[in-house]
Amino acid sequence: MPETFKVGLLGHGTVGAAFEALLGERGEAVAATTGLRPEISGVLTRSRGDFEDILNRSDLIVELIGGIDPARDYVLRAMRAGKHVVSANKQLLSQHGEELWACAREHQVQLRFEGAVAGVVPVIRVIQESLAAARLERIHGIVNGTTNYILSEMAREGISYDQALSQAQALGYAEADPTDDVTGRDAAAKMAILARLAFSTPVHLDQVTYEGIEHITSDDMAYARELGLGLKLIGTAERVDGGISVRVHPAFLYGEHPLAAVHGPFNAVTVESDAITEITMSGPGAGGPQTASAVLGDVVSAMIPPASTPETTEALRVVDDVESAFYLHMEVADRPGVLAQVAEILGMQGASIKSFVQRGLGDNARLVMVLHPLLESRLYAAVRMIAQLDFVRATPRAIRVIDEDFA
Ligand SMILES: NC(=O)c1ccc[n+]([C@@H]2O[C@H](COP(=O)([O-])OP(=O)(O)OC[C@H]3O[C@@H](n4cnc5c(N)ncnc54)[C@H](OP(=O)(O)O)[C@@H]3O)[C@@H](O)[C@H]2O)c1
Repeated sequence: MPETFKVGLLGHGTVGAAFEALLGERGEAVAATTGLRPEISGVLTRSRGDFEDILNRSDLIVELIGGIDPARDYVLRAMRAGKHVVSANKQLLSQHGEELWACAREHQVQLRFEGAVAGVVPVIRVIQESLAAARLERIHGIVNGTTNYILSEMAREGISYDQALSQAQALGYAEADPTDDVTGRDAAAKMAILARLAFSTPVHLDQVTYEGIEHITSDDMAYARELGLGLKLIGTAERVDGGISVRVHPAFLYGEHPLAAVHGPFNAVTVESDAITEITMSGPGAGGPQTASAVLGDVVSAMIPPASTPETTEALRVVDDVESAFYLHMEVADRPGVLAQVAEILGMQGASIKSFVQRGLGDNARLVMVLHPLLESRLYAAVRMIAQLDFVRATPRAIRVIDEDFA
């Protein structure tokens, strides 16, 4: 039996409860990788648990209370007692980061905080570790899922800001009091943390200028769409004239910008540097299970020595026939019954047509269709059968279509 690694959990709300559940599910896998079995040593809420008692019984403290007090005091006390700390608290780090990092250095403990920025998107780790040698020039981020959802819905449905906000609240993407999100303050805290790491200089939340989305109208969105533009709440941290600028404001983007395609409650961060050009990371920016995953990742990082070799903990079969949507392009003789025969063969293989275009080419016709997902083996069986029909003028072309609803 592996030894246990005791995790004291402060806060048992949306993220804290999801973290405990995830630890239950993934504890065995973590034990197989690290040689230590993580276990909750105690839980602190306003009505449950005693901080000193939990601290004494823990190797590491996870802080998921939020806000400044008493979270700051608990985090400092834990580190002074020689315990590693994992937190998802952007307000705390953006306002008291220097004090906390100095304490971590002094007591030679780790303070990890991946969940504080962009939820499960591993942007902190990438900036701090993978890009540690790069001189970063600029970061652009969509780091608040609530506002991105509101702006996406205003653009998609043509609805007002108030309607989109109510919808976000009904779906749990916005708090009952959405002030921190819609004014840009939440995004500003996250950009302060990213700027601090990217430029290795102290950045306090008070030094970030921010503007929210409350004044955006559906009219702005309609004109933007005609011009091929999308509106996002963008956080920017960049080197300017030998200094840095850190700000959050609504901004239009052209469709080809990597952040333009980020819709709904998703987050994305683009990091630029002369040496690496540009890296974009995106994914779910909030939510209990998603943030808990980032928190558990930090716990595992704190448990293992820096360089780990990959362990085999499962023996999984490699699947070689998977489902995919397909684009299918055929050149055929333009005569009655052709489409019916093609459709019959597709139907025999379980393929159904999502969209279809036919163009005449003299005596021939071009049939182009997008098929709903089906097993690749069945699609290629259909293509082989179609290719043998006497009216087919060229080998049909099949190209996979990534047809997933991410938002
Ligand atoms: N929710 C998300 O999607 C998300 C995403 C990224 C980061 N985060 C961050 O994760 C942290 C936790 O967020 P959350 O959404 O899980 O918050 P939450 O649902 O409001 O839960 C907060 C927890 O902290 C406890 N707590 C509050 N004040 C306390 C005190 N004085 N002493 C002891 N316990 C106290 C609460 O206890 P009671 O049950 O007794 O009230 C509750 O269990 C925050 O820093 C937040 O910014 C959240």
